[in-house]
Amino acid sequence: GSIAKYVLKMPVLPHQRPRRVSFTTDYYRMTMAEAYKEVIPGFQTKVNTFNGSFPGPVIDAWSGRRVVIEQTNKLDVPTSVHLHGAHVPSSSDGGPMDLIAPGGGTKTYTYPNEQTHANLWFHDHAHHIESETVYRGLTGTYILRDQVEARLGLPSGKYDIPISVRDARFDADGQLHFEMDDFFNRQVVLANGKAWPYFEVAARKYRFRIYNTANLRSFQFALGDGSPFTLIGTDGGLLAEPYVTTSVLLSPGERADIVVDFSRYPVGTELELRNVITQAPGTPPDVNQVLQFRVTRTERDHSVVPAKLRTLPALRPATVERSFSLLMDESSQEPAWAYINGKEYDPDRIDTTIDYGTTEIWTVTNDNKIAPHNFHIHLVMFRVLERGGVPVTEGAETGLKDTVFLRAGETVKLQATFTGYRGVYLYHCHLFDHASMGMMAQMQVV
Ligand code: C2O
Ligand code: CU
Repeated sequence: GSIAKYVLKMPVLPHQRPRRVSFTTDYYRMTMAEAYKEVIPGFQTKVNTFNGSFPGPVIDAWSGRRVVIEQTNKLDVPTSVHLHGAHVPSSSDGGPMDLIAPGGGTKTYTYPNEQTHANLWFHDHAHHIESETVYRGLTGTYILRDQVEARLGLPSGKYDIPISVRDARFDADGQLHFEMDDFFNRQVVLANGKAWPYFEVAARKYRFRIYNTANLRSFQFALGDGSPFTLIGTDGGLLAEPYVTTSVLLSPGERADIVVDFSRYPVGTELELRNVITQAPGTPPDVNQVLQFRVTRTERDHSVVPAKLRTLPALRPATVERSFSLLMDESSQEPAWAYINGKEYDPDRIDTTIDYGTTEIWTVTNDNKIAPHNFHIHLVMFRVLERGGVPVTEGAETGLKDTVFLRAGETVKLQATFTGYRGVYLYHCHLFDHASMGMMAQMQVV
């Protein structure tokens, strides 16, 4: 509709400073609280924040160096903070029942960061209400770096920009409107907390770490002129080699790490970042627009995208195979429920027991006729072996993944090694509304 585009400036997300630094550990304090922000031009919208930021701030972590975050919940609902993609003890995983009391409760989460570089993020996971608290803003960025990545000479510092993209629905008074499973009506696209913002760049290479933090919407990102960019990484960090493409598809929870070279554009160029995913009939064209880059100056560029980025861990032979079916009620019956292998989430039930150290192949099928889903496993990074029976040999799904998209009727084959920690962890559809409707289950590593 009537929201003016490319009026608000896309902010660079604030980087959170640790309040204390020891030889081994960075200590942070964060508060979840409401605040008012200009999300659409001319309105003050009530949102949920981490440390006053919508979306939350960026935590900069180093592989091998511990991060401890004390979270205080000043909202009026319980929360649970999950670090998505992190390899952490179950006690710090932020499970749906491991709640921080509203009105000032606290919990301290310890993140060992004993994993290689990755584009992680944190968000609320409190059962049945996370779809709304996340929708209202409880997400934040957590960038885990390591020496392998740092040595490559990729665009860095002010040329390394995380962008959190999502959709939302607003009432006439500019307030966020939440209804469960309200996909079609969430037609306003936000980037770093602003509706259809613009972002000024120099005519050089930039690295954009794009996060899909939407509840339900998938985006297929492309440049407005259809020109290529370089995909260098996904959920679990860099790909083995850069992949030149004209679009990248992200379902909710997935990340794409891309390098765009603006040096081919003259100063003064305006270039959109667009969403080229196929839309249902009747969808307004607005959801195909995301943000606008403005090339405002020239600048020297010593950054490079090397032909070889990293060595991915070798696949170990798998000894266990399992299958999972994702299905939600598609009748118009209310409330709709959502299931994994025919069951709704039950915090008192262990659905899958896994022997510590095992390498497993999981075949996951979306058994719906229309609804898309995706699949996220806590604790581990997995590899996508096959999509629709076809081996995955190039592109965005060749790297380390923690979330994978499943169109209606589609099947993927994943492989993971369950090591590092024992305990209870979740796997679920990462369309938050579906997770809230029950499409989650638990595994126990023993
Ligand atoms: Cu980002 Cu259990 O999820
Ligand atoms: Cu789903």
